Amino acid sequence: MTKRGVQFVCSSCGAVSASWSGRCFSCGEWNTLQEQLDVTQNAITKDGRVLSTQSVGASITKDLPRLKSGIQEVDNVLGGGFVAGSVNLIAGQPGIGKSTLLLQLAYTLSDNQSILYVSGEESEHQIGLRAERLGTKSQKLQLATSTVADDIAATIAGGKYQLVIVDSIQTVACSAIASAAGTVSQITNSTQLLTAAAKKTNTALILVGHVTKEGAIAGPKVLEHLVDVVLQLEGDRYGGFKVLRAIKNRYGSTNEAGIFEMTDNGLQPVANPSAALLAERQITDGSVILATLEGTRPLLVEVQALVNRTSYGYPKRAASGFDLNRLNLLVAMLEKRTKLNLADQDIYINIVGGLRLTEPAADLAICMAIASASKGMQLKKNAVVFGEVGLSGEVRHVPHVDKRVAEAKKLGFDGAIGPIIKTGKKPALYSGVQDVRSALNTFLEKD
Ligand code: TYD
Ligand code: MG
Repeated sequence: MTKRGVQFVCSSCGAVSASWSGRCFSCGEWNTLQEQLDVTQNAITKDGRVLSTQSVGASITKDLPRLKSGIQEVDNVLGGGFVAGSVNLIAGQPGIGKSTLLLQLAYTLSDNQSILYVSGEESEHQIGLRAERLGTKSQKLQLATSTVADDIAATIAGGKYQLVIVDSIQTVACSAIASAAGTVSQITNSTQLLTAAAKKTNTALILVGHVTKEGAIAGPKVLEHLVDVVLQLEGDRYGGFKVLRAIKNRYGSTNEAGIFEMTDNGLQPVANPSAALLAERQITDGSVILATLEGTRPLLVEVQALVNRTSYGYPKRAASGFDLNRLNLLVAMLEKRTKLNLADQDIYINIVGGLRLTEPAADLAICMAIASASKGMQLKKNAVVFGEVGLSGEVRHVPHVDKRVAEAKKLGFDGAIGPIIKTGKKPALYSGVQDVRSALNTFLEKD
């Protein structure tokens, strides 16, 4: 018997029939009939109730209760701390320091709040060893090891804790589902189960997520939709800086970034990252200082280029910390718009400190570093460089010029080279350039 108000539509030819069959009567395709509501027959008000609405103004809650993590950099990234009842995902490569950061957080928070740390990856003993390394002494932080999502959810639903950390979501599994932990269905179902428990008791929940080799969060993309905040901890695995940034944040902006360094006693915020990044700088050709933005914070980074005659037929281009496609594009542009001859040259780009540049404002610095390396010339001034470069070689506007110049001055640079400023005041010691060619002609010199 067919249900009233339901029809079956062939996804291949669109033919409509009143009952389901294995084969479409019209086009003959197999398994294409899909159930669909027949809206014309279904009286609109029969099943639905009218929603009660309220003005947006009335639904603005002034103060979201937030748990301050005690680590300023983390609070900044979150927009003021963890919101009660929020679900936060922290993603990153293995060994980057997720567990370390969370244990540090948990310790500082546990002074005033009841916090539970659930680990599915390490034994109590291992966590104890790490805690000892971190040199923290709090006796209040609660610890459990479990991989059973139902148990963790029940614990959260008990309402005893204000914040629960689950390390990691890939190791927990719901008992109702037969598949192994870490599979798509386990990850989504466990997350849903834990989220429901957290929302019910207004507990803040932090989930640790692994990322795949390509850098995507392991598991289905839906995981990112299920949670309120997605934080990513990234950077070079072996030394260098770790950057914590928000990819999605339902309670704040995604502009802020926190910069950390792994030390013998855990992750420590880096107070002056620019100075640290430039500490070992050698002034040679191929080295240009870029004023970039990490979130809304200006950061000076050294861009290094190496240009060598290629020994094979096909020139090699490689970049560490910069997008290779963008590099190829800039090299092609340089060949066309300037007198540089790069067709038979290998080009290597390195961003010092293990940072990954994603901002288009890095373009001009990359171009100048390549030109400097290829010609054996250096920047005339002790200046920082920034600006987006278009395919016709024009240098384009980038945001927050003032911040970049101010950071350069703070670190003792006596100039900045960037796009021409059309509106507003030009900062002192700033030189605007029209295009790459004039930038190279004006600011590079033989030493
Ligand atoms: P970990 O936090 O376990 O990484 P994740 O949970 O993201 O997989 O460990 C990060 C690395 O940091 C680990 O290889 C050891 C190192 N480490 C330190 O250098 N100092 C420390 O104080 C701690 C706790 C770890
Ligand atoms: Mg870990």
